Amino acid sequence: MTDLNALIAALPKAELHLHLEGSLEPEQLMLFAERNGVDLPFNTLEEVKAAYNFSNLQDFLDIYYQGMSVLQTEADFHDLTDAYLKRCHADNVRHVEVFFDPQGHTERGLSFATPVNGILSALDAAADKYGITYKLIMCFLRHLPEEDAFETLAQAEPFLDRIHGVGLDSSEVGHPPSKFERVFAAAREKGLKLVAHAGEEGPPEYVYEALDLLKIDRIDHGNRLLEDDALIARVKDAGLTLTVCPLSNLSLCVVDDLKDHPMKRMLDLGLRATINSDDPAYFGGYVNQNFVETAQAVGLTRDHILTLARNSFTGSFLSSEEQAVHLKNIEEVAAANP
Ligand code: HPA
Ligand code: ZN
Repeated sequence: MTDLNALIAALPKAELHLHLEGSLEPEQLMLFAERNGVDLPFNTLEEVKAAYNFSNLQDFLDIYYQGMSVLQTEADFHDLTDAYLKRCHADNVRHVEVFFDPQGHTERGLSFATPVNGILSALDAAADKYGITYKLIMCFLRHLPEEDAFETLAQAEPFLDRIHGVGLDSSEVGHPPSKFERVFAAAREKGLKLVAHAGEEGPPEYVYEALDLLKIDRIDHGNRLLEDDALIARVKDAGLTLTVCPLSNLSLCVVDDLKDHPMKRMLDLGLRATINSDDPAYFGGYVNQNFVETAQAVGLTRDHILTLARNSFTGSFLSSEEQAVHLKNIEEVAAANP
């Protein structure tokens, strides 16, 4: 019988749903706070770790925005991104499509260029340093007005050759995709790829809006689309990818127990689901940990694991030629792990 954990470790994978600010480990948070003289309501590492404990999305977001206040300089964003890429390398993640929240930084007085330059310098070095390729996606914060998203899109203009897409994150319920229809149309006009968090806490109607109004290329999370059979059929027929985040779902009580996670059901329905870490410093694990714990909890088979690895590349924004190289590597690892 295949050793699934060995297979998971050996497989090349892509990560398609990762918020760089959510990779801020408690140790780094303390370090950056000290080097930048930022006052935090925590005195010890234990107090930070104790605060990383949530029962819903908003609880998490409150800590997440507080945490990112320690990020002040290009060097901070570079170091944060590099530490994440090092984890990816350890997990055999070969390609990443990562989010950042520019408004979380410009709102505190940083220039748009500070996070972007720091993040891109680490991402650009990753090909040589770790053999990892990337696409960068900037997210609009959905609890803010659409006007602010337009302003962010304007600030991004000088960087648009290096930013591959836009996303939509933050507090979902009460901030439906329809609120951002115009700014997503403007981003589409500029040739940007479009993704949106939908159906994490929000109802299936939000997934419909993300498809019909925002015209997204990929769905982030999407768990609640399973409540609607017509929507399942539509997402499946369109071959849309879902960037699912099992340990995040457990931490934010989208599922009460990992055994109840719908990953197996999604795959058995033929949906193109992928496994991702979302905010790994806050939710207890990077990509391989998400694979291992989910496989064990819901009983994923060797075939499921191979499908997930393939989906991570076919669901990416890499060209089909680039995808083919990774898919060939997956088949080689599969053959070596019968
Ligand atoms: N959901 C919504 N917004 C977010 C998340 C998430 O999982 N992580 C960071 N911002
Ligand atoms: Zn997310």
